[in-house]
Amino acid sequence: MTTSTTSFAFERIAKSRINEIDFNNLEFGKYISDHMLMADFLDGKWQEPTILPFGDIPMSPAMLSLHYGQSVFEGMKAFKNKDGDICIFRPQKHSERLNKSLARMCMPEIPEELFIQSLHALVEIDQAWIPTSEGASLYLRPVVFAYEPRLGVKIADHMKFFILTSPAGAYFSKPTRLKVEETFVRAAEGGTGFAKCAGNYGGAFYPTTLARQQGFDQVLWTDAKEHKYIDEAGVMNVMFVIDGKLITPKLTTALLDGVTRDSILTLAPGLGMTVEQRKVSVAEIEEAFKKGSITEAFGTGTAAVVSPIATINIHGTDYNLPAADPGSFQHRVKEKLNNMRLGFEPDVHGWNYIISTQ
Ligand SMILES: Cc1ncc(COP(=O)(O)O)c(C=O)c1O
Repeated sequence: MTTSTTSFAFERIAKSRINEIDFNNLEFGKYISDHMLMADFLDGKWQEPTILPFGDIPMSPAMLSLHYGQSVFEGMKAFKNKDGDICIFRPQKHSERLNKSLARMCMPEIPEELFIQSLHALVEIDQAWIPTSEGASLYLRPVVFAYEPRLGVKIADHMKFFILTSPAGAYFSKPTRLKVEETFVRAAEGGTGFAKCAGNYGGAFYPTTLARQQGFDQVLWTDAKEHKYIDEAGVMNVMFVIDGKLITPKLTTALLDGVTRDSILTLAPGLGMTVEQRKVSVAEIEEAFKKGSITEAFGTGTAAVVSPIATINIHGTDYNLPAADPGSFQHRVKEKLNNMRLGFEPDVHGWNYIISTQ
């Protein structure tokens, strides 16, 4: 054991795997960096994390998360900015959301300081894994799950928190085809939709698979009661430009409070855009297509920042959008956000957590 700059116990990998990675061809999530961070929640408190070589961990088949689903995660990114320093984007906001997810799942919150120190220590150690090509980043995946082995239905006393990191290439998402979902439900108000818990994703696989068989990329989820109002898409929040205004479903307990969504809504007024966060009905979107008043639709998320939407299928009819041109709001806001993260524009909102490498 040696000690990292942050004083967590640190066991360095015997031989780095970094030379095995083709940094010109980074498939999202395929490669995991050399080290991982692990911490246990035991005796009612989070224990000091350890950083160790990435690898398997022992696990009992009776581990409670496998049986009763106490498992939550986050997804975020670190970059090398224009000065060569490391920038972790909005770790406080991710910490806040993780703690909301944990509270909903009866799991112990992780103090913000511990969360950020953990990210800091791991990213600093594996900084050679941060890709430097344009648009690339190191994807960070913090996870908390119930580790205690026990068959009875109960809230686990022993949890584990770990962080993995994975180099990710520039994400050029091709315009997506979405189907408005009117049969299946991702989340109901009062449920766990706002929490980033594993079960939300498992439950979405089946309807998404059916939509893919029909030629769509993702489903556009609607409210559980009436299938009348839009919630979000598979792994992204959605925004529309209608009559020159930026319109997005307001947050409820049924959809994820996306960090990218929040960032874009914060930046929009500065780009001359009026923002409306409110209920958005499927009928309103259909009407806007018929009138020609909808000019843009896009998803927002950590992976792609903005993901242009080409088609929305409503009650079996495809409604198409033109390709977004460089002057479109989605292009301008994506550029602005990227420039802020890389240090080409001032970080006026204090979103960048910088680790100096000088
Ligand atoms: C269900 C869901 N909605 C929205 C988002 C976008 O959230 P963020 O911008 O924080 O990545 C994600 C991304 O992980 C997601 O999984």
